[in-house]
Amino acid sequence: MKFRSLALLLLITTCVSAQQAEIIPRPKTQVSPKVYVPFILSPATEIVLEGSNMDNSVDFLNQYLQKNYLFTLKVVKESTSKNVIRLNFERLDGAYPGAYNLKVDKSGIYIAGDNEEGVFYGIQSLIQLLPVPDARLKMRPNTLKIPFISIEDEPRFAYRGMHFDVSRHFFPVSYVKKYIDYLALHKLNYFHWHLTDDQGWRIEIKKYPKLTSVGGWRDGTIIGRYPGTGNDSIHYGGFYTQEEIKEVVAYASKRYITVIPEIEMPGHSMAALTAYPELGTDPKGGYSVSQTWGINDVYNNVLNPSEYTFGFLQDVLDEVMPLFPAEYIHIGGDECSKTWWHQSEFCQQLMKEKGIKDEHGLQSYFIQRIEKYVNSKGKKIIGWDEILEGGLAPNATVMSWRGEQGGIDAAKQHHYVIMTPGNPVYFDHTQSQNEDSVTIGGYNPIEKVYAYDPVPKELTAEESKYILGAQANLWTEYIGFPSKVEYMLFPRMAALSEILWTPKARKDSADFFRRLETQIKRYELWGANYSKAWYDLKSTVLPAPGNNGLLWKLESKRKSDKIVYTTILPSGKKFAYTAPVKITGNFIAQANIETPGKNMPLTSVRFQFNKATGKKLTLTEAPSPSYPGDGGFTLVNGVINEQGFARSREFIAFSGKDCDALIDLGTSQKIHQVTVHAMERKSSWIWAPERAEVQGSTDGVNYAPLGTSYDFQPAGFGVQKGKLVMAFGDTYARYLKVKVYNAGKIPDGNPGSGKNAWLFVDEIAVD
Ligand code: ACM
Repeated sequence: MKFRSLALLLLITTCVSAQQAEIIPRPKTQVSPKVYVPFILSPATEIVLEGSNMDNSVDFLNQYLQKNYLFTLKVVKESTSKNVIRLNFERLDGAYPGAYNLKVDKSGIYIAGDNEEGVFYGIQSLIQLLPVPDARLKMRPNTLKIPFISIEDEPRFAYRGMHFDVSRHFFPVSYVKKYIDYLALHKLNYFHWHLTDDQGWRIEIKKYPKLTSVGGWRDGTIIGRYPGTGNDSIHYGGFYTQEEIKEVVAYASKRYITVIPEIEMPGHSMAALTAYPELGTDPKGGYSVSQTWGINDVYNNVLNPSEYTFGFLQDVLDEVMPLFPAEYIHIGGDECSKTWWHQSEFCQQLMKEKGIKDEHGLQSYFIQRIEKYVNSKGKKIIGWDEILEGGLAPNATVMSWRGEQGGIDAAKQHHYVIMTPGNPVYFDHTQSQNEDSVTIGGYNPIEKVYAYDPVPKELTAEESKYILGAQANLWTEYIGFPSKVEYMLFPRMAALSEILWTPKARKDSADFFRRLETQIKRYELWGANYSKAWYDLKSTVLPAPGNNGLLWKLESKRKSDKIVYTTILPSGKKFAYTAPVKITGNFIAQANIETPGKNMPLTSVRFQFNKATGKKLTLTEAPSPSYPGDGGFTLVNGVINEQGFARSREFIAFSGKDCDALIDLGTSQKIHQVTVHAMERKSSWIWAPERAEVQGSTDGVNYAPLGTSYDFQPAGFGVQKGKLVMAFGDTYARYLKVKVYNAGKIPDGNPGSGKNAWLFVDEIAVD
């Protein structure tokens, strides 16, 4: 018994040991004395208020201490003690609200904010100076060593945002508050609340009760990734009452976070149309709250630009605007298919009357009318970058999501801009090469988020002033519960906070990723889930010397990591990894970093050999820089992309172009079949090949046609990949010309109609 308590004591002593100042986002300046001296924060420490209106900061700190260290601090007006945290105001010259100074020395802890927000951010930095106890221990230390330090800090951008879609999946008020706390802990200051969409209307509007009683619910939800493997037939939904909305807004306000509501128009309105079909362009109605996603262009979810609709929207905005003190209302404006307005007699007549030349002009007319109304109530609109098409509303702020171009164009027109490009700040996108949960796709690892700068290079210094900041978006099609929310948010939110707060000159990725280790311990302390993608091994496949087999190379981000791998085929043995592994036949293995007591992510590989594996492959035309893979070698690296789209290095892609490959098998040999593995996801403009052709030669000069196939065989329902097989009689060949034809222009009635189709090729197998 005695022995056990000694062990526990030792454990607690080690976990309160000295901590370096590892603050994310990195402060503007941070100076530590040469000799480490700690201040000891304990239940005896007093908070001394030397200014007024500091309750928000004090409450946040005490709640944080209570939750994570099981004690709180007493608040006093004055004290002669040196065991104090003094909070004060000082005039500091920050470009935006929120500047603060933080000093820890022999006279205690002193935080001076330029304003209330500044004090609050000083408290956030103080929280990050606290040692992080091991989250698994029930007992918590109550003598916390804080290093002496001097910090001067201020935000780089005025707008530091995070978005949350509660339409595709609904989250209760309690979780929305937790989400807001996460923003506060990362010094973010705008919460963009995506409250309406095709899959559910989530805000009570008293004048139109059916918006929530009907539009807030759907009778089922797609299973798996679109197009899905079925529907769960479960009645699903929910909404926030106006009282709950006020509660969230007040909660955010105490954390210096402004809540911007988004009410989508004129597209993404299926839930509203289901409740009030008279808002639509289709007199037959027949709307129902969407149970699926990913097909915006092909169903009618569009509001009719009628007087009834404008009256309705004004009524809705009349109830929404007083709930949110924010200067801005987000009115959506994205992905509004023009097909339905084009087909509508009413819309065509309206366009004639108003002298509007096309449907983009009609969208512009729609947004400008709404802007005028919102402006008349003393507020401004934000819209997604589609609001640029057909002419910007005069005072609108643009949220640039389809890359940076919308933001660049808007800034050049002297409109304010919030940057939120899908690549890299859509946090619904995959962050790991080894993702095994369903996501919407893409590949936005934390390294890419950290490398992002919100001010596009194309802008002059003058134009750059229109960039208010940036925001990451969390769309929840494939995010149905809190642990998945956190898995997608963390640790990428840490990188977001640093690109928005820290002066550009202070950004340093090596230093960031060192501090991230501590931030990850904080996530564990908070009980927040997070992605371990940062610990992913980098797995590379290289041709072996002489094009004889493959080399499997593994790299960890930290040189000190011990990498191990276990083979499943040919034998179930475990090996320490020291150098690239030579592979000459079918091989399946899993690798990871050996970390006792911790489950590290597995990197798995499966090499399927055929006569072309590891051989030389030359492409006539390089793939798109967006999907370059490892060049032509990707097509003969033995890895068939069984995991769908997550392993973005395992395929190469061509926009509107064919894939033209020459394979050298090394020697002339007997072959009877060539198989082209390709992918298909029409919602993302990726079409199966129109056809594939193969020609063979023994001398590399004279080629004979061997086979052609138009028959794309899907690997299974919803798998989004398949193959074309070209079988022929036994033939001798050394050289093979394989041409895979792009599907060309996308036909009408499909997402991206009239645009170039993408061709995604994964592997070419020769048997
Ligand atoms: C968006 O992602 N449709 C704004």
